[in-house]
Amino acid sequence: MAADKEEVRSRTDIVDLIGAHVQLKRRGRNWLGLCPFHQEKTPSFNVDPVTQSFKCFGCGVGGDVFSFVQRMENMSFVEAAEKLAARAGLELARTGGTSMPTGERDALLQMNAVAKDYYRSQLAHSADARAYLDRRGITADAVLRWGLGYAPESWDALTTFLRSRRLDLRVAAQCGLVGSKDGSRYYDVFRNRLIFPIHDEQERVVGFGGRAVGNEEPKYLNSPESALFAKSKLLYGLPFARRSVAVTGRSILMEGYMDVIAAHQSGFTAAMATLGTSLTGDHAKKLVRLAPIVVLCYDADRAGIKATLRAAEILEQQELQVRVISLPEGEDPDSLLRTRGAEAFEAAVAEAVGRVEYQLRRAVAETDSADPEGQAALLRKLIAILASVPSRTERDMHIEKVWSYHPMRAHGASIVKDQLHRDAEEYARRMRAQQRAVQAGEPAPAPVIPPPAVAPLTAERRAELLLVRALVSVEFRADVLGCCGMSDFISPVAARLFCDVRDGLGGPHTDEAGLIAAAEVQGDEAFCDALRQLLQESSVALANIRLSSDIVRAEAKRLRRARVAQVQDELAGLLRARESFGPDDERHLAEYMRVLRELKGSNAG
Ligand code: UTP
Ligand code: MN
Repeated sequence: MAADKEEVRSRTDIVDLIGAHVQLKRRGRNWLGLCPFHQEKTPSFNVDPVTQSFKCFGCGVGGDVFSFVQRMENMSFVEAAEKLAARAGLELARTGGTSMPTGERDALLQMNAVAKDYYRSQLAHSADARAYLDRRGITADAVLRWGLGYAPESWDALTTFLRSRRLDLRVAAQCGLVGSKDGSRYYDVFRNRLIFPIHDEQERVVGFGGRAVGNEEPKYLNSPESALFAKSKLLYGLPFARRSVAVTGRSILMEGYMDVIAAHQSGFTAAMATLGTSLTGDHAKKLVRLAPIVVLCYDADRAGIKATLRAAEILEQQELQVRVISLPEGEDPDSLLRTRGAEAFEAAVAEAVGRVEYQLRRAVAETDSADPEGQAALLRKLIAILASVPSRTERDMHIEKVWSYHPMRAHGASIVKDQLHRDAEEYARRMRAQQRAVQAGEPAPAPVIPPPAVAPLTAERRAELLLVRALVSVEFRADVLGCCGMSDFISPVAARLFCDVRDGLGGPHTDEAGLIAAAEVQGDEAFCDALRQLLQESSVALANIRLSSDIVRAEAKRLRRARVAQVQDELAGLLRARESFGPDDERHLAEYMRVLRELKGSNAG
């Protein structure tokens, strides 16, 4: 039965609720304690059980059970209401949201809770696992806090345990805890792994990460993607970081489970991590609700640097302020904390810089300044980065730090600085003009120095990009699948994306970010990079286009015509050289014929 707000309120004892956070003493009808929302030595924080409200006469903050939880836990009203409902053993009427029936969802959550307890209990039986935790410097407190456990080195330890409890192994299979050979013979998925339960915002276990205790591959095994466990939305550590993020006004984002645990252990309790996938718009939306600043603290390696820039872009799209921590080369937060301690990390945090400054520093660090080619390349990079700063005052600050790398520095600071402003503004203007031209379907203006990043589009390429856009949108995906085939696409990346989506990559309701996350899970980095580029190109080129089923069909036809002409051309070329045919040519011929048949035979007309 779904409950409403008033029912949740009436089932919540405000003294009990607040008493868990504040030491309260009875004072007449009310209860009194030290205010948790400001610093004070004499208690002025009042809780009134009759009106079910609280009020601090020191700082003026007051409200009801919902606003207390909102403030205390840095939650939205809906999240606070859900938390209180769960606490009172009620279930809230949901508007929108998850697609899974609540009954099924509860069964999965229940199963995960049982598994978490089981894995925790197994830690006591494995000296090896405990030794491993010890080596990695994880304290007993942290083990409890994060609910860490151990999956024994066995094919049927969990399976047998669940059976003995008469629990439904099909549910365990849905959770990804057990696999099955033929729908009846079940086996444990996590074996000889340290187990990290992954909690959602309500602190329910929605999945697990399992780290190999030895050198087995993969290093981390994660629960499979499901409606319950969506990696593109979850942040590891969020429920434990929430409060600290509210107090300090910033989230700290890291790459790994171990990083987050090590950070919390050392007092950096605003740390969270994505689950081995890159940051998505959904993650960013979660972070927006917590605090206005996000501090990125990714590994100090190539992948970490790339991920930092991508994450910064996504965060800035949500109007978040980005700061970037640079760790010493080759370190991650966990290793730095372990080898050099909390002070070293604190220092790195204190030296965090904004996104633009981070990019400028990287550009400078990556350049061989002795080489004139390198200098020219650096200048182009600097201008492109400076062009992303619309405010002149702000740009001025950045130019102050980089003008001395300008090849014309001998002309003096003010000349060079002015030149940099002009170049950056011109670059930004050209980029905008080019975007407009591309959107209007016109050839783009000729490239200037520095060369713009977008080349002019042909009609076919534009059609292909539009179909890609439609393919990654939940709304128009079916239209593309209905009227296109793999052979329609010119670019191999687009063709592969089409096949993957057709074959259910990420599920039918995944958005663009979800698709990327799902592609990343497959582990083909080259494809993921190409895919991101393709999606970015299509979103830039078509930023102002409103998709419709009619447009999708029309562009599919256009692309089909272009493809048929292209394949026919290539076929004709091949046939002209028929006398000197080798076995490869025979294969190409057969392939062209097959593609042509496919293009002409399917239904875009
Ligand atoms: P890293 O490879 O940086 O590992 O992966 P780490 O966090 O430093 O791990 P330790 O310190 O060696 O134990 C970062 C994150 O990427 C995901 C995990 O979430 C991991 O925490 N990952 C990594 C996977 O999902 N699968 C893998 O095989 C590896
Ligand atoms: Mn690590």
